[in-house]
Amino acid sequence: MSRFHTRFCQAFSLRVPIVQAGMAGGMVTPELVAAVCEAGGLGTLAGAYVKPDELRQAIRRVKALTKRPFSVNLLLYEEPESYTVTPEWLAWLNEMRAELGLAPWNGEISSGADDVEANFAVILEEQVPVFSFAFGLPGKYGEAAKAAGMKLIGMATTLEEAKALYAAGVDAIVAQGAEAGGHRGTFRVEDKPTGDCIGTMALVPLLADALPDIPIVAAGGIMDGRGLVAALSLGADAIQVGTRFLTCRESKAHPAYQARLLAAKETDPQITRAFSGRPARGLANRLLNSFAERGLTALPYPLQNSLTRELRAEAARRNDAEYMSLWAGQGVAMLKEAGESAAEIVASYMRQAEQVIMRWR
Ligand SMILES: Cc1cc2nc3c(=O)[nH]c(=O)nc-3n(C[C@H](O)[C@H](O)[C@H](O)COP(=O)(O)O)c2cc1C
Repeated sequence: MSRFHTRFCQAFSLRVPIVQAGMAGGMVTPELVAAVCEAGGLGTLAGAYVKPDELRQAIRRVKALTKRPFSVNLLLYEEPESYTVTPEWLAWLNEMRAELGLAPWNGEISSGADDVEANFAVILEEQVPVFSFAFGLPGKYGEAAKAAGMKLIGMATTLEEAKALYAAGVDAIVAQGAEAGGHRGTFRVEDKPTGDCIGTMALVPLLADALPDIPIVAAGGIMDGRGLVAALSLGADAIQVGTRFLTCRESKAHPAYQARLLAAKETDPQITRAFSGRPARGLANRLLNSFAERGLTALPYPLQNSLTRELRAEAARRNDAEYMSLWAGQGVAMLKEAGESAAEIVASYMRQAEQVIMRWR
Protein backbone atom coordinates (compact mmCIF):
# COMPACT_ATOMS: atom_id res chain seq x y z
CA MET A 1 0.00 0.00 0.00
CA SER A 2 1.28 3.46 -0.90
CA ARG A 3 2.68 5.69 1.84
CA PHE A 4 0.05 8.21 0.75
CA HIS A 5 -2.83 5.90 1.70
CA THR A 6 -4.58 8.17 4.23
CA ARG A 7 -7.64 7.70 6.43
CA PHE A 8 -9.60 9.52 3.69
CA CYS A 9 -8.57 6.77 1.23
CA GLN A 10 -9.61 4.21 3.82
CA ALA A 11 -13.01 5.78 4.49
CA PHE A 12 -13.85 6.36 0.80
CA SER A 13 -12.29 3.11 -0.55
CA LEU A 14 -9.66 4.88 -2.69
CA ARG A 15 -6.10 4.01 -3.62
CA VAL A 16 -4.86 7.60 -3.84
CA PRO A 17 -5.85 10.75 -1.90
CA ILE A 18 -6.99 12.76 -4.92
CA VAL A 19 -10.50 14.11 -5.50
CA GLN A 20 -11.34 15.54 -8.93
CA ALA A 21 -13.64 18.49 -8.29
CA GLY A 22 -17.16 18.44 -9.67
CA MET A 23 -17.09 21.46 -12.00
CA ALA A 24 -20.42 22.84 -13.15
CA GLY A 25 -20.54 24.10 -16.73
CA GLY A 26 -20.21 21.03 -18.91
CA MET A 27 -16.46 20.36 -18.68
CA VAL A 28 -16.65 17.21 -16.57
CA THR A 29 -17.61 14.20 -18.66
CA PRO A 30 -18.55 10.78 -17.28
CA GLU A 31 -15.37 9.53 -19.00
CA LEU A 32 -13.28 11.98 -16.94
CA VAL A 33 -14.95 10.96 -13.69
CA ALA A 34 -14.59 7.25 -14.41
CA ALA A 35 -10.94 7.64 -15.45
CA VAL A 36 -10.09 9.33 -12.13
CA CYS A 37 -11.93 6.57 -10.23
CA GLU A 38 -10.15 3.84 -12.19
CA ALA A 39 -6.84 5.56 -11.41
CA GLY A 40 -7.70 5.17 -7.70
CA GLY A 41 -8.99 8.67 -6.91
CA LEU A 42 -12.50 10.02 -6.38
CA GLY A 43 -14.07 11.36 -9.56
CA THR A 44 -16.96 13.80 -9.20
CA LEU A 45 -19.78 14.57 -11.62
CA ALA A 46 -21.08 18.14 -11.57
CA GLY A 47 -24.76 18.02 -10.66
CA ALA A 48 -25.27 21.79 -10.95
CA TYR A 49 -26.40 23.50 -14.18
CA VAL A 50 -27.81 20.24 -15.56
CA LYS A 51 -31.34 18.97 -15.93
CA PRO A 52 -32.35 15.91 -13.89
CA ASP A 53 -32.53 13.65 -16.96
CA GLU A 54 -29.06 14.69 -18.13
CA LEU A 55 -27.71 14.02 -14.66
CA ARG A 56 -29.29 10.56 -14.58
CA GLN A 57 -27.77 9.71 -17.96
CA ALA A 58 -24.36 10.92 -16.83
CA ILE A 59 -24.53 8.91 -13.59
CA ARG A 60 -25.51 5.77 -15.49
CA ARG A 61 -22.64 6.29 -17.92
CA VAL A 62 -20.16 6.56 -15.02
CA LYS A 63 -21.59 3.36 -13.53
CA ALA A 64 -21.14 1.62 -16.88
CA LEU A 65 -17.51 2.74 -17.06
CA THR A 66 -16.37 1.97 -13.51
CA LYS A 67 -17.41 -0.09 -10.53
CA ARG A 68 -15.37 2.12 -8.19
CA PRO A 69 -16.95 4.74 -5.90
CA PHE A 70 -17.65 8.17 -7.38
CA SER A 71 -19.29 11.38 -6.24
CA VAL A 72 -21.92 13.82 -7.50
CA ASN A 73 -21.71 17.49 -6.50
CA LEU A 74 -24.51 20.03 -6.08
CA LEU A 75 -24.45 23.75 -5.38
CA LEU A 76 -26.95 24.19 -2.53
CA TYR A 77 -28.21 27.75 -2.90
CA GLU A 78 -31.14 29.60 -1.41
CA GLU A 79 -33.59 31.41 -3.66
CA PRO A 80 -33.02 35.17 -3.37
CA GLU A 81 -35.80 37.07 -1.65
CA SER A 82 -35.58 40.24 -3.68
CA TYR A 83 -33.49 41.93 -6.32
CA THR A 84 -33.33 45.16 -8.27
CA VAL A 85 -32.27 45.60 -11.87
CA THR A 86 -30.80 49.12 -11.92
CA PRO A 87 -30.61 51.20 -15.14
CA GLU A 88 -26.78 50.98 -14.96
CA TRP A 89 -26.89 47.20 -14.69
CA LEU A 90 -29.32 46.96 -17.59
CA ALA A 91 -27.19 49.28 -19.71
CA TRP A 92 -24.19 46.99 -19.08
CA LEU A 93 -26.12 43.84 -19.99
CA ASN A 94 -27.44 45.37 -23.20
CA GLU A 95 -24.02 46.66 -24.15
CA MET A 96 -22.57 43.16 -23.75
CA ARG A 97 -25.49 41.77 -25.75
CA ALA A 98 -24.93 44.32 -28.51
CA GLU A 99 -21.24 43.46 -28.69
CA LEU A 100 -22.27 39.86 -29.35
CA GLY A 101 -24.95 40.84 -31.86
CA LEU A 102 -27.84 39.97 -29.52
CA ALA A 103 -31.02 42.07 -29.26
CA PRO A 104 -31.56 44.01 -26.01
CA TRP A 105 -32.84 41.94 -23.08
CA ASN A 106 -36.61 41.46 -23.37
CA GLY A 107 -37.17 41.66 -19.61
CA GLU A 108 -38.07 38.00 -19.19
CA ILE A 109 -36.27 35.95 -16.60
CA SER A 110 -36.12 32.44 -17.95
CA SER A 111 -35.27 31.06 -14.56
CA GLY A 112 -33.04 28.27 -15.89
CA ALA A 113 -32.02 27.89 -12.26
CA ASP A 114 -31.15 24.46 -10.95
CA ASP A 115 -33.93 22.28 -9.65
CA VAL A 116 -31.83 21.15 -6.68
CA GLU A 117 -34.64 18.98 -5.28
CA ALA A 118 -35.08 17.12 -8.55
CA ASN A 119 -31.35 16.65 -9.09
CA PHE A 120 -30.91 15.42 -5.54
CA ALA A 121 -33.79 12.96 -6.05
CA VAL A 122 -31.86 11.53 -9.01
CA ILE A 123 -28.74 11.17 -6.85
CA LEU A 124 -30.78 9.25 -4.26
CA GLU A 125 -32.56 7.05 -6.78
CA GLU A 126 -29.31 6.19 -8.52
CA GLN A 127 -27.68 5.31 -5.18
CA VAL A 128 -24.61 7.42 -5.81
CA PRO A 129 -21.89 6.44 -3.29
CA VAL A 130 -20.75 9.99 -2.36
CA PHE A 131 -22.68 13.28 -2.30
CA SER A 132 -20.61 16.45 -2.23
CA PHE A 133 -21.91 19.99 -2.04
CA ALA A 134 -20.89 23.62 -1.68
CA PHE A 135 -22.32 26.99 -0.55
CA GLY A 136 -23.66 25.90 2.86
CA LEU A 137 -24.85 23.13 5.12
CA PRO A 138 -26.49 20.03 3.69
CA GLY A 139 -29.76 20.33 5.68
CA LYS A 140 -32.49 17.95 4.57
CA TYR A 141 -30.32 16.67 1.71
CA GLY A 142 -27.67 15.60 4.18
CA GLU A 143 -30.17 13.70 6.29
CA ALA A 144 -31.62 11.91 3.28
CA ALA A 145 -28.14 11.09 1.92
CA LYS A 146 -27.04 9.69 5.29
CA ALA A 147 -30.21 7.63 5.64
CA ALA A 148 -29.48 6.16 2.18
CA GLY A 149 -25.97 5.20 3.29
CA MET A 150 -24.11 7.78 1.19
CA LYS A 151 -20.96 9.52 2.29
CA LEU A 152 -21.02 13.32 2.48
CA ILE A 153 -18.36 15.89 1.62
CA GLY A 154 -18.98 19.58 2.36
CA MET A 155 -16.90 22.63 1.48
CA ALA A 156 -15.62 25.28 3.92
CA THR A 157 -13.67 28.50 3.43
CA THR A 158 -13.38 29.35 7.14
CA LEU A 159 -13.02 27.53 10.45
CA GLU A 160 -16.54 28.55 11.47
CA GLU A 161 -18.00 26.96 8.31
CA ALA A 162 -15.91 23.82 8.85
CA LYS A 163 -17.16 23.48 12.43
CA ALA A 164 -20.74 23.83 11.24
CA LEU A 165 -20.19 21.12 8.61
CA TYR A 166 -18.64 18.86 11.23
CA ALA A 167 -21.64 19.37 13.51
CA ALA A 168 -23.90 18.53 10.55
CA GLY A 169 -22.26 15.09 10.36
CA VAL A 170 -20.36 15.20 7.07
CA ASP A 171 -17.67 12.55 6.44
CA ALA A 172 -14.99 14.91 5.08
CA ILE A 173 -14.49 18.66 4.69
CA VAL A 174 -12.96 20.38 1.69
CA ALA A 175 -10.84 23.31 2.92
CA GLN A 176 -11.16 25.65 -0.06
CA GLY A 177 -8.29 28.10 -0.11
CA ALA A 178 -8.35 31.51 -1.78
CA GLU A 179 -6.33 30.17 -4.72
CA ALA A 180 -9.15 27.92 -5.90
CA GLY A 181 -10.75 28.27 -9.31
CA GLY A 182 -14.52 28.53 -9.72
CA HIS A 183 -17.04 29.56 -7.11
CA ARG A 184 -16.06 30.45 -3.58
CA GLY A 185 -17.76 28.03 -1.21
CA THR A 186 -18.34 30.79 1.38
CA PHE A 187 -21.78 30.24 2.95
CA ARG A 188 -22.94 33.85 3.26
CA VAL A 189 -21.60 36.13 0.56
CA GLU A 190 -24.19 38.93 0.82
CA ASP A 191 -21.89 41.38 2.58
CA LYS A 192 -18.58 39.95 1.31
CA PRO A 193 -17.75 40.94 -2.26
CA THR A 194 -15.20 38.16 -2.77
CA GLY A 195 -16.38 35.63 -0.20
CA ASP A 196 -13.85 34.61 2.44
CA CYS A 197 -10.38 34.16 0.92
CA ILE A 198 -7.96 32.46 3.30
CA GLY A 199 -5.00 30.91 1.49
CA THR A 200 -4.76 27.11 1.35
CA MET A 201 -1.48 27.23 3.32
CA ALA A 202 -3.18 28.97 6.26
CA LEU A 203 -6.61 27.33 6.10
CA VAL A 204 -5.66 23.65 5.96
CA PRO A 205 -3.60 23.41 9.18
CA LEU A 206 -6.15 25.56 11.00
CA LEU A 207 -8.95 23.14 10.17
CA ALA A 208 -6.78 20.05 10.67
CA ASP A 209 -5.84 21.16 14.20
CA ALA A 210 -9.33 22.25 15.22
CA LEU A 211 -11.12 19.19 13.80
CA PRO A 212 -8.75 16.25 14.23
CA ASP A 213 -11.53 13.64 13.98
CA ILE A 214 -12.53 14.34 10.40
CA PRO A 215 -10.56 14.10 7.14
CA ILE A 216 -9.68 17.47 5.59
CA VAL A 217 -9.38 17.75 1.82
CA ALA A 218 -7.17 20.65 0.71
CA ALA A 219 -8.30 22.58 -2.39
CA GLY A 220 -6.93 25.59 -4.23
CA GLY A 221 -3.82 25.92 -6.37
CA ILE A 222 -2.64 22.32 -5.96
CA MET A 223 -1.29 21.66 -9.43
CA ASP A 224 1.13 18.76 -8.97
CA GLY A 225 2.77 16.26 -6.62
CA ARG A 226 4.65 18.99 -4.77
CA GLY A 227 1.32 20.54 -3.82
CA LEU A 228 0.01 17.13 -2.76
CA VAL A 229 2.94 16.58 -0.39
CA ALA A 230 2.61 20.14 0.92
CA ALA A 231 -1.11 19.65 1.62
CA LEU A 232 -0.54 16.34 3.42
CA SER A 233 2.28 17.97 5.42
CA LEU A 234 -0.15 20.67 6.53
CA GLY A 235 -2.50 18.05 7.93
CA ALA A 236 -4.78 17.36 4.98
CA ASP A 237 -5.87 13.79 4.25
CA ALA A 238 -6.43 14.37 0.54
CA ILE A 239 -6.49 17.09 -2.13
CA GLN A 240 -9.28 18.30 -4.39
CA VAL A 241 -8.18 19.42 -7.83
CA GLY A 242 -10.16 21.39 -10.40
CA THR A 243 -8.06 23.54 -12.73
CA ARG A 244 -5.49 20.86 -13.59
CA PHE A 245 -8.20 18.62 -15.07
CA LEU A 246 -9.73 21.30 -17.33
CA THR A 247 -7.34 20.69 -20.23
CA CYS A 248 -7.15 16.91 -19.96
CA ARG A 249 -8.15 14.63 -22.82
CA GLU A 250 -11.54 13.77 -21.30
CA SER A 251 -12.47 17.42 -20.53
CA LYS A 252 -15.26 19.05 -22.53
CA ALA A 253 -14.17 22.59 -21.64
CA HIS A 254 -14.69 24.79 -24.73
CA PRO A 255 -11.56 24.84 -26.95
CA ALA A 256 -11.35 28.66 -26.70
CA TYR A 257 -11.44 28.35 -22.89
CA GLN A 258 -8.74 25.66 -22.96
CA ALA A 259 -6.56 27.86 -25.17
CA ARG A 260 -6.88 30.74 -22.67
CA LEU A 261 -6.05 28.41 -19.77
CA LEU A 262 -2.87 27.22 -21.44
CA ALA A 263 -1.78 30.78 -22.21
CA ALA A 264 -2.74 32.27 -18.82
CA LYS A 265 -0.41 34.13 -16.48
CA GLU A 266 -0.58 33.83 -12.71
CA THR A 267 -2.06 37.34 -12.51
CA ASP A 268 -5.01 36.55 -14.82
CA PRO A 269 -7.37 34.82 -12.37
CA GLN A 270 -9.65 37.35 -10.65
CA ILE A 271 -12.64 37.00 -8.37
CA THR A 272 -15.85 38.26 -9.96
CA ARG A 273 -19.60 38.17 -9.50
CA ALA A 274 -20.25 39.21 -13.11
CA PHE A 275 -21.23 35.77 -14.35
CA SER A 276 -23.33 34.11 -11.66
CA GLY A 277 -23.92 36.64 -8.87
CA ARG A 278 -21.71 34.72 -6.43
CA PRO A 279 -17.97 35.33 -6.17
CA ALA A 280 -15.94 32.98 -8.33
CA ARG A 281 -12.37 32.98 -9.64
CA GLY A 282 -11.77 33.07 -13.38
CA LEU A 283 -9.48 34.57 -16.01
CA ALA A 284 -10.07 38.26 -16.65
CA ASN A 285 -11.75 39.00 -19.97
CA ARG A 286 -13.95 41.67 -21.54
CA LEU A 287 -17.11 40.68 -19.64
CA LEU A 288 -15.38 40.42 -16.25
CA ASN A 289 -13.43 43.67 -16.71
CA SER A 290 -16.37 45.73 -17.95
CA PHE A 291 -18.47 44.69 -14.94
CA ALA A 292 -15.62 45.56 -12.55
CA GLU A 293 -14.82 48.92 -14.20
CA ARG A 294 -18.40 50.12 -13.75
CA GLY A 295 -18.52 49.15 -10.09
CA LEU A 296 -21.83 47.38 -10.62
CA THR A 297 -23.56 45.26 -8.02
CA ALA A 298 -24.46 41.81 -9.27
CA LEU A 299 -27.95 40.39 -8.99
CA PRO A 300 -28.11 37.62 -6.40
CA TYR A 301 -27.20 34.06 -7.45
CA PRO A 302 -28.63 32.47 -9.55
CA LEU A 303 -30.33 35.45 -11.24
CA GLN A 304 -27.15 37.02 -12.58
CA ASN A 305 -26.32 33.59 -13.94
CA SER A 306 -29.69 33.29 -15.70
CA LEU A 307 -29.48 36.76 -17.22
CA THR A 308 -25.94 36.30 -18.54
CA ARG A 309 -26.53 32.77 -19.84
CA GLU A 310 -27.38 33.88 -23.38
CA LEU A 311 -24.16 35.88 -23.52
CA ARG A 312 -22.13 32.81 -22.65
CA ALA A 313 -24.03 30.60 -25.08
CA GLU A 314 -23.53 33.09 -27.92
CA ALA A 315 -19.85 33.50 -26.99
CA ALA A 316 -19.44 29.71 -27.12
CA ARG A 317 -21.03 29.64 -30.59
CA ARG A 318 -18.63 32.36 -31.75
CA ASN A 319 -15.56 30.82 -30.08
CA ASP A 320 -15.16 34.12 -28.26
CA ALA A 321 -13.51 33.64 -24.86
CA GLU A 322 -13.98 37.33 -24.00
CA TYR A 323 -17.57 36.68 -22.89
CA MET A 324 -17.28 33.16 -21.45
CA SER A 325 -16.78 32.31 -17.79
CA LEU A 326 -13.16 31.15 -17.74
CA TRP A 327 -12.99 29.66 -14.23
CA ALA A 328 -9.42 28.97 -13.16
CA GLY A 329 -7.37 28.88 -9.97
CA GLN A 330 -4.20 30.80 -9.21
CA GLY A 331 -2.09 27.80 -10.21
CA VAL A 332 -3.27 28.12 -13.82
CA ALA A 333 0.11 29.30 -15.12
CA MET A 334 1.50 25.88 -14.13
CA LEU A 335 -0.74 24.22 -16.74
CA LYS A 336 1.59 23.26 -19.52
CA GLU A 337 0.18 20.40 -21.47
CA ALA A 338 -3.15 19.87 -23.15
CA GLY A 339 -4.41 16.40 -23.87
CA GLU A 340 -2.92 14.45 -20.99
CA SER A 341 -5.36 11.77 -19.91
CA ALA A 342 -7.01 12.10 -16.51
CA ALA A 343 -5.31 8.85 -15.48
CA GLU A 344 -1.92 10.30 -16.45
CA ILE A 345 -2.62 13.38 -14.36
CA VAL A 346 -3.47 11.29 -11.27
CA ALA A 347 -0.40 9.12 -11.82
CA SER A 348 1.84 12.17 -12.25
CA TYR A 349 0.69 13.68 -8.92
CA MET A 350 1.56 10.42 -7.19
CA ARG A 351 4.86 9.94 -9.00
CA GLN A 352 6.02 13.47 -8.25
CA ALA A 353 4.90 13.22 -4.62
CA GLU A 354 7.02 10.09 -4.29
CA GLN A 355 10.02 11.92 -5.84
CA VAL A 356 9.62 14.84 -3.44
CA ILE A 357 9.68 12.50 -0.44
CA MET A 358 12.73 10.66 -1.81
CA ARG A 359 14.63 13.96 -2.05
CA TRP A 360 14.20 14.48 1.67
CA ARG A 361 15.69 11.15 2.67
C1 LIG B 1 -14.20 25.28 -13.79
C2 LIG B 1 -14.49 25.09 -12.32
C3 LIG B 1 -15.80 24.84 -11.92
C4 LIG B 1 -16.08 24.57 -10.57
N1 LIG B 1 -17.35 24.21 -10.21
C5 LIG B 1 -17.58 23.75 -8.96
C6 LIG B 1 -18.82 23.16 -8.62
O1 LIG B 1 -19.74 23.03 -9.45
N2 LIG B 1 -18.99 22.70 -7.35
C7 LIG B 1 -17.99 22.79 -6.41
O2 LIG B 1 -18.19 22.32 -5.28
N3 LIG B 1 -16.80 23.36 -6.70
C8 LIG B 1 -16.57 23.83 -7.95
N4 LIG B 1 -15.34 24.34 -8.27
C9 LIG B 1 -14.31 24.54 -7.20
C10 LIG B 1 -13.58 23.24 -6.88
O3 LIG B 1 -14.37 22.45 -6.03
C11 LIG B 1 -12.25 23.48 -6.14
O4 LIG B 1 -12.48 24.20 -4.96
C12 LIG B 1 -11.18 24.17 -6.97
O5 LIG B 1 -11.18 23.74 -8.30
C13 LIG B 1 -9.80 23.93 -6.36
O6 LIG B 1 -8.86 24.81 -6.87
P1 LIG B 1 -8.02 24.56 -8.23
O7 LIG B 1 -8.97 24.92 -9.33
O8 LIG B 1 -6.89 25.51 -8.09
O9 LIG B 1 -7.63 23.11 -8.29
C14 LIG B 1 -15.04 24.63 -9.60
C15 LIG B 1 -13.73 24.93 -10.03
C16 LIG B 1 -13.44 25.14 -11.36
C17 LIG B 1 -12.03 25.41 -11.78
